[in-house]
Amino acid sequence: MDTIGVIGAGQMGAGIAQVAAVAGYRVLLSDREAALADKGKAGIARRLGSAVAKQAMSAADADAALARIETVGDYAAFADASIVIEAATEREEIKRAIFSEVGALMAGDAILATNTSSIPITRLAQAAPDPARFMGVHFFNPVPVMKPIELIRGLATSEATVTSVETFAKTLGKTVVHANDAPGFIVNRVLMPMLNEAIFALGEGVASIRDIDTAVSLGLNHPMGPLTLADFIGLDTCLEICRVLHGGTGDPKFRPAPLLVKYVEAGWLGRKTKRGFYDYSGAEPVPTR
Ligand code: 3HC
Repeated sequence: MDTIGVIGAGQMGAGIAQVAAVAGYRVLLSDREAALADKGKAGIARRLGSAVAKQAMSAADADAALARIETVGDYAAFADASIVIEAATEREEIKRAIFSEVGALMAGDAILATNTSSIPITRLAQAAPDPARFMGVHFFNPVPVMKPIELIRGLATSEATVTSVETFAKTLGKTVVHANDAPGFIVNRVLMPMLNEAIFALGEGVASIRDIDTAVSLGLNHPMGPLTLADFIGLDTCLEICRVLHGGTGDPKFRPAPLLVKYVEAGWLGRKTKRGFYDYSGAEPVPTR
């Protein structure tokens, strides 16, 4: 593999583009319009700049990595890509539309992968040009920092596709884990009930936002408390994953906390809207209740 296509230049897509470029790949980074892809690339430039400032990377390596990223506003250039990784908005109809558009332009032997956090791979594969060359590649946020990649095969994914994507993932310096196509895969199956339970606890008045986060963070040695982490992931994403777990298993233990639903209805989606369980409009996050 030499050229990697990345669709979606938000937090996840830009992170994937960054690690691929640092690993030496040519990266085509796209978004709905070229300006959004450029914005994603500007964020990568900032992060590489701070790695240089911390002496974690040389300025020459950072410049070379940045120069390997080309931003594009459509998929025409994706004909060159050996693998295309979709990291667009977590909505099935958006992903399906992307797959049919990019699928028509990709090379006959190229692999299409999705960074979905929870939509079933076997179902999404139906919109891919070839389900045998389609699979899930689930990165974690922030991508440059977080070690694992979950590889999820759909029913029709071929062995050759899994082997080739695993080899690629390891060249990014990541640790590969394999998961079957079950709701939430591994990490979100385990993580979301914990975040959701913290929100139930808040809604039931067990403790304040600050105390829930401090207790869990220090008591379990987690880098972030669960409410801070939910804000970091995005409350809409958390709700969507809870719904996939609930709907996909039929198990009531996965039902979303009513307070999570309310926050999403209010448009309080976490850091990205500057308000979730914390208010992010000032220098330091302030709990909202
Ligand atoms: N992009 C790139 N690098 C980043 C970053 C970002 N957005 N945020 C922080 N970093 C880097 C910093 O540059 C720093 O690098 P260095 O060690 O080389 O200097 C390192 O991460 C530590 O950063 P800070 O010192 O600024 O801050 P913290 O020590 O508080 O760490 C954190 C920040 C890495 C985000 C840490 O709080 C953490 O690990 N939190 C938990 C994150 C987590 O659980 N992610 C998984 C979410 S679930 C998911 O993604 C699945 C999805 O499907 C929902």
